[in-house]
Amino acid sequence: MLELAGKTHDESRQGEAYDPLVQLPGQFKKHFYIESYGCAMNFADSEVVASILNAEGFGSTRNAEEADLIFLNTCSIREKAEQTVRKRLTEFRSLKRKKPGMLIGMLGCMAERLKSKLLEEEKLVDIVVGPDAYRSLPSLIGEAETGQKAVNVLLSRDETYGDIAPIRLDSNGVCAFVSIMRGCNNMCSFCVVPFTRGRERSRDALSIIQEVQQLFNSGYREVTLLGQNVDSYYWIDEQNDETVTFARLLEKVALVSPLLRVRFSTSHPKDITDEVLCTMARYDNICKYIHLPVQSGSNRVLQLMNRTYTREWYIAKVNRIRELLPGCGLSTDMITGFCTETEEDHRESYALMEYCKYDLAYMYYYSERPGTLAERRYEDDVPEETKKRRLQEIIALHRIHSLESMQRDVKKTFRVLIEANSKKSDNDWHGRTDHNKVVIFPKEHYQLNKGDYVDVFIDSCTAGTLLGRIVTINN
Ligand code: SAM
Ligand code: SF4
Ligand code: F3S
Repeated sequence: MLELAGKTHDESRQGEAYDPLVQLPGQFKKHFYIESYGCAMNFADSEVVASILNAEGFGSTRNAEEADLIFLNTCSIREKAEQTVRKRLTEFRSLKRKKPGMLIGMLGCMAERLKSKLLEEEKLVDIVVGPDAYRSLPSLIGEAETGQKAVNVLLSRDETYGDIAPIRLDSNGVCAFVSIMRGCNNMCSFCVVPFTRGRERSRDALSIIQEVQQLFNSGYREVTLLGQNVDSYYWIDEQNDETVTFARLLEKVALVSPLLRVRFSTSHPKDITDEVLCTMARYDNICKYIHLPVQSGSNRVLQLMNRTYTREWYIAKVNRIRELLPGCGLSTDMITGFCTETEEDHRESYALMEYCKYDLAYMYYYSERPGTLAERRYEDDVPEETKKRRLQEIIALHRIHSLESMQRDVKKTFRVLIEANSKKSDNDWHGRTDHNKVVIFPKEHYQLNKGDYVDVFIDSCTAGTLLGRIVTINN
């Protein structure tokens, strides 16, 4: 999936708290603190939760000790993600001992997976709410306040929260996520998401365009359209008698303004179409960057994973991307040590990475998830040290490719969207290229702001950052 400042899609994003709402003291009856884990969709959901709570008179705080309600928006994708949340819950329990009356709520995928277990058996939380039940949060809070068990983990076939304007609390004011669909119908055998997020459904296209337009009007200059499988987006606009595919949606979003950058994530190799690639080629403001998770380079393993494409199909897609969008940035997800994976299978994954030379890759070793097809059908038979050794091998290979990718950009000029001050110095800007690479450059004497575009000549690079200087101002 795409990166926002190098970190959006990464499920390893952990425990980021949101900024407080702008508020007057005493304006809100209670305060909540929310910490988010997992993928960009979860972070986007926290913004919906903030909006629902805010409408009911709750204000947010960045300081957990000040909060009346603590929410953890959780991830179940790997066992480690759940362990991190459990550890954090234990810390909050000790905070609650000092502040009786404080309520702790678990939201998101782990809430959906474990249902009332953490509330009833382990007594770690007071409220449990799954990803499709956030509208019931205010009433659940009321129930928990009277000492009742407050649980709602019902999955929905049509909930998209399309009518809720998310509150952008942890925002640089330039880049925003926009959810375009929820759930997933793909049933990859290793993956817990279809069970925690339910069936796939697309959000009303009109509400998406409206949200994007509002973001643009309030100064945002980049949107990332989010879904587990964006290429299967499908909406029938009865008002205008139009079928909106993902390619058409992308075009509509791009037309909001040429000054708005458009990104999207995640594409499934079986579904990404020429129509999408041609739409990307037609609009300068659709960023030339595709996250195309492969998961394995071995046909045998891909079949066990139920990914429904072959290595050859995947390579043909990559070739097509490079033909229609020369220089397009490409990233992937890769899993090592899936059930029955042999050294030969591993070598095929390695060779595929050699072929694709990804600009960015998220690499994991397989973590068996309860209830998934793989857990029910196959033995998790690759020893942990083998999984980890194979992971280290592909990480080492990818480091070479990503450094080469950075080095290729040196002595070239790129259009950069300014996103923030550099973390290291207020005298430098932090921005990104169309291809999603971070660029740091001195502000010099120019009167620029976040959200402005500049052409930057790249003088040098590190493994993760391009370093340059302004050559032209583009606004
Ligand atoms: N829908 C996207 C896709 O199909 O690529 C993203 C799915 S998931 C949120 C993000 C990544 O986590 C997957 O692409 C996969 O590489 C990894 N992942 C999912 N389940 C896993 C598991 N059981 N063990 C290790 N990695 C896993
Ligand atoms: Fe999981 Fe596969 Fe759906 Fe991605 S496409 S969320 S990996 S089931
Ligand atoms: Fe995302 Fe983790 Fe759920 S990756 S969809 S928050 S299991």
